[in-house]
Amino acid sequence: MKIKFLLLLSSLFFFLNACSKEDSTVIENLENPLANAPKDVNDNGFRAKWNYVSKSKSYLLDVSTTENFSALVPNYNSKEVTDLNEVVVSLTGGTQYYYRVRAKSETQTSGYSNVISVVTTGTSNVPEDPTFLKVKVNKLANPFFVGMAVKANQLNAGSPYDVILKNEFSSISAEYEMKMDQISVASGVYNWTVADKIVAYGNTNNINVHGHALVWHNSVPSWLANYAGTDAEFSLEVKKYITDVVTHYKGKVKSWDVVNESIADNGSMRNTVFLRRMGPNYVNDCFKWAREAANAAADTQLLLFYNDYATSDNSNKQNAVYTLIDKLITDKLIDGVGFQMHNTIFAPSKIQIEKDLNRAVTKGLKIHISELDMQVNPGNAQSNLTATFTNELRLAQKAKYKEIVKIYNALPKANKYALTVWGMKDNESWIPFSTELNHPGNDWPLLYDSNFAIKSSHTGFLEGLD
Ligand code: XIL
Repeated sequence: MKIKFLLLLSSLFFFLNACSKEDSTVIENLENPLANAPKDVNDNGFRAKWNYVSKSKSYLLDVSTTENFSALVPNYNSKEVTDLNEVVVSLTGGTQYYYRVRAKSETQTSGYSNVISVVTTGTSNVPEDPTFLKVKVNKLANPFFVGMAVKANQLNAGSPYDVILKNEFSSISAEYEMKMDQISVASGVYNWTVADKIVAYGNTNNINVHGHALVWHNSVPSWLANYAGTDAEFSLEVKKYITDVVTHYKGKVKSWDVVNESIADNGSMRNTVFLRRMGPNYVNDCFKWAREAANAAADTQLLLFYNDYATSDNSNKQNAVYTLIDKLITDKLIDGVGFQMHNTIFAPSKIQIEKDLNRAVTKGLKIHISELDMQVNPGNAQSNLTATFTNELRLAQKAKYKEIVKIYNALPKANKYALTVWGMKDNESWIPFSTELNHPGNDWPLLYDSNFAIKSSHTGFLEGLD
């Protein structure tokens, strides 16, 4: 009897123990699933995808038109799916959607996966906002110049460029015709004709003229690049050029990029003819000569800028640029910084741009977003001949233009100067043809299409001002 009782007791112990082990398996948490990029995106929907979660029996799929899932699409509010993908249907074309999933077992539901963003194809049929850029900007409490890069042959009265410029833009920069290789024919010999046309266009139409650029390694005239004189004589030639140009345009050109792109991408000083012949202090020298020329011409309002590219997502370069700027501040030679912003829809990020610009804000400098464009096909990722400007890219570009305008508009009044877009029409942008970017394919980086029609990027610009 006693033995029987002991046997019963011990089997009860083993039974309870086994149960508790089973229990501990059950309360082990289900992992959150990983949502993947969609497939088969079309006008009405897409295939949402995610990874398998161990011990799950099904998945709960949410699809929303808002990133915080406050506007769930009917039928996709925790829709139970037993597969690892689901064809989401009956959506609207040209619309932004978001999806996420949770894993489900018989007893448990996991937390949410990451959120995937997807835009259906097709036209949105939402008309673009036709408001003129400068009209909206000039209504702001703290307006700034809205700039456009121009070429002299666009500026004939009545041309579509002329009409758009007068309606929408309050500043111009010469895309290439005010660079040294265009103006300087030989030592002390200048060809002013084309540059004068650009400056006069701005002056007569009440459009600010930003001078671009006095010293740039990519626009050195061959007589100077191959200069046979001594280094000291070379420096004097550069001084003479800066002095003569600043003097010629006194009171007419309101700001100059004195030096363009003197820092290399690795953060060292770019190995240019100016560095080689004038030494590492050449940037300060050029600013000093520009300031002296302006003062001698009684042009006390002239603003002097340092201009460079791709500093926001390259901390070595950014630090080097700010070190250079600090030196110019110490010598009281600089008024502002030009951030070229030849950006893409992927980079740099909002946070990177804000951080970069804010360093200039803390130094009390004016900020010029000086050459804005937004590639949608960077590195020619879509193959050259088949590249298309899909609706998804159109909306992504609109969002990225909106983002940078919003960042710029949020700057303190004292730090605002101009936000300049680098070219009017997509088909005339420098981007696809740039040998530097080695980018022979198609892109659509600007605010107007090849027919001068405003794009969604233009609407994004306007929305960035809200
Ligand atoms: C480009 C122009 O867009 C082209 O038309 C020209 O042939 C070469 O220069 N950084 C600059 C600009 O500072 O001057 C460059 O402009 C683009 C890169």
